Amino acid sequence: MKNRILITGALGQLGKFFVESLISQDNYVLATDIKENKILNCDYELFDIMDLDRGDYLINKYNINQVYNFAAILSAKGEQNPLLTWEINNVGFTNIAKLCLKNNIKKIFWPSSIAVFGRNSNLKLVKNDEPMLPETIYGVSKLACEKAMYYFNSKNLLDIRSIRFPGIVSNSKPGGGTTDYIVEMLFRAKSNENYSCFLKSDTYLPMMHINDAIDASIKLMNADIMDLNLDYPYNISSFETSPSEWIEIIQSIGFNLNVEYKVDFRQGIADSWPKKIDDSVLRSDIKWLPKFNAIDTAKNIIESIQL
Ligand code: SER
Repeated sequence: MKNRILITGALGQLGKFFVESLISQDNYVLATDIKENKILNCDYELFDIMDLDRGDYLINKYNINQVYNFAAILSAKGEQNPLLTWEINNVGFTNIAKLCLKNNIKKIFWPSSIAVFGRNSNLKLVKNDEPMLPETIYGVSKLACEKAMYYFNSKNLLDIRSIRFPGIVSNSKPGGGTTDYIVEMLFRAKSNENYSCFLKSDTYLPMMHINDAIDASIKLMNADIMDLNLDYPYNISSFETSPSEWIEIIQSIGFNLNVEYKVDFRQGIADSWPKKIDDSVLRSDIKWLPKFNAIDTAKNIIESIQL
């Protein structure tokens, strides 16, 4: 057994895939979230990351030595309740840091997001160290935690590793994000239902297959610290697409999808996010390349969706 890993927010879009992958690589996984578990096939406990005592109890009961901290409120949902989002995302991050410091756990994986960028970043091709003025509370909270991460890492208090995820394409539905259409369209195409798209047809955003996201994250977690040039999150990139291009891809692999456009406030968020990402630092530090392009991603995920 390699590591004994606690995952928070394990019932979210990413959890199930990280659980499966980490277990298949000979790790012990304790999955946690705030709802009853009906999908994960591993040890599971209820855990609200606001509850420090519960976290301390679970870490000791299960002898945890690594944490994957996924609990967060995403970009679109966050705008409905900015203060709650700030609290869950930032206090949650701080609580995991506190628990790890108290229990001598050094290594944490914590996803940041393309939401940390803003219109003052060079959105056509965003480098790792652009100026950043995020416009959502989600992006603001992620950026604040990026700075805290840098502090803890550079003082050698913790070893937090992080990637700025784009829209992730998986066969589990995301919730409350600005990139959610990418998955929602696949579900609608598979069930032969119409889709109402909340972004304009020509809105390009960076996306990636869940397996590529997992592969890069676990590689980063296993990398020798001497090979890592950054004490703060890495950009990651796979492909970029827009709603109209994604519809064409879905049709090209044999599915029918009728889409009407009902653009809402999420358009403003998408307009403040990168169109293309430069992830050359990550690729060189962990020797990683994505395996799925847009067409492979659509095909592989739509085939795996079970209605
Ligand atoms: N997928 C996320 C969102 O749309 C971005 O990190 O909020």
